[in-house]
Amino acid sequence: MSDAKLQSVLSSLAEVYRQLDSLPSSPVPDAGCVKLNTNENPFALPAAVMQSALAALERQYLYPEDDNISLREAAAASYNLSTDQVIAGNGSSELLSLIYKAFLDPGDRVAMLSPGFAYNRKLALLQGARLLEIKWGESCLLPIHKLLFGPAKEAKFILLANPNNPTGTFVPIADIEGLVAQSDRLIVLDEAYVDFAPDSALRLINRYSNLLVLRTFSKSYAAAGIRVGFGFGHPQVIGRLRNIQNLFNMNVIGHAVGVSILANRAAYDENHRHIKFERERVRVALSQLGFSTTPSHANFLLARVPAGRDGTWWQTSLKRKKILVAVLPDESLEDCIRVSIGTKPQMDGFLAAVDDIIGAEMSRRSAV
Ligand SMILES: Cc1ncc(COP(=O)(O)O)c(C=O)c1O
Repeated sequence: MSDAKLQSVLSSLAEVYRQLDSLPSSPVPDAGCVKLNTNENPFALPAAVMQSALAALERQYLYPEDDNISLREAAAASYNLSTDQVIAGNGSSELLSLIYKAFLDPGDRVAMLSPGFAYNRKLALLQGARLLEIKWGESCLLPIHKLLFGPAKEAKFILLANPNNPTGTFVPIADIEGLVAQSDRLIVLDEAYVDFAPDSALRLINRYSNLLVLRTFSKSYAAAGIRVGFGFGHPQVIGRLRNIQNLFNMNVIGHAVGVSILANRAAYDENHRHIKFERERVRVALSQLGFSTTPSHANFLLARVPAGRDGTWWQTSLKRKKILVAVLPDESLEDCIRVSIGTKPQMDGFLAAVDDIIGAEMSRRSAV
């Protein structure tokens, strides 16, 4: 296409699409790199789950089951809910996007606790909604008053992640219940990292019609590339989301892996134990290297880098050593990196790289 034609095609796009171009995007994966930037879980699937994925490949010529019935039934049975309280998605990010479409008109307000999952900024922009970012309280306490009585009172729904991304902090379920009980808004509670945390709010689903809980198999079940996520809530809220979901939104492998993971959750106990152990080991090691870390309940650590350099400098320095970490687009987190917890060799490699970088910095400083 000639440049003139391209300009004419692009100029037809609304302002919102121009704004989307300016949002940060994920770094392009580099095959030779250790990926500690998007909170994947680098372990193999349990053998039984892998078997079901391979068996599903033999059904490649069939459309997948519509409305994800068997997967929703399996999830309902596993979590003691009814099937109409469950929606299944091509990852939980598909479900987040449906929530924006289902509950917001252009110009509406939505509230998110900040810092939070940055993808919500894109979703709000796409829906023409105004995203109100409410700061977490001191030490990441839930700012219930601000969510109930401030401008957030006008929000169509309130989003929070527990454990939170990117801080890794966890708020007690009693605090979440306090918010849900006192609010007449829909509370979207994103539990993407809950399997690394001490508790979950799923038991509140039958008590509160304004609570919608999201889960994913991307983080704790090592299936980010297969895309399996769930939403749990009141049948009418779930029904509204299912109504606007694409036909055949998941594929046969996602269905088979989802059902098989639900049947084999105990096979992940060692995986979760490993990640929690490594998370603490790396946290202590980073503190000894001059970073300041927040205790995390997720499969990543948020670390404030030693004085003198910012998060982007560390990200670039680590990338030169083939290690990818994330930096955050939030003000007040410019001096931080977020590091996913992987295998022991990966984390040893990360710590050795950090040590090397500090050594080189010290030599450079003593030379000037
Ligand atoms: C808080 C949170 N929610 C949702 C997601 C999306 O997960 P997925 O779409 O892979 O299920 C992520 C991924 O990083 C996340 O950090």
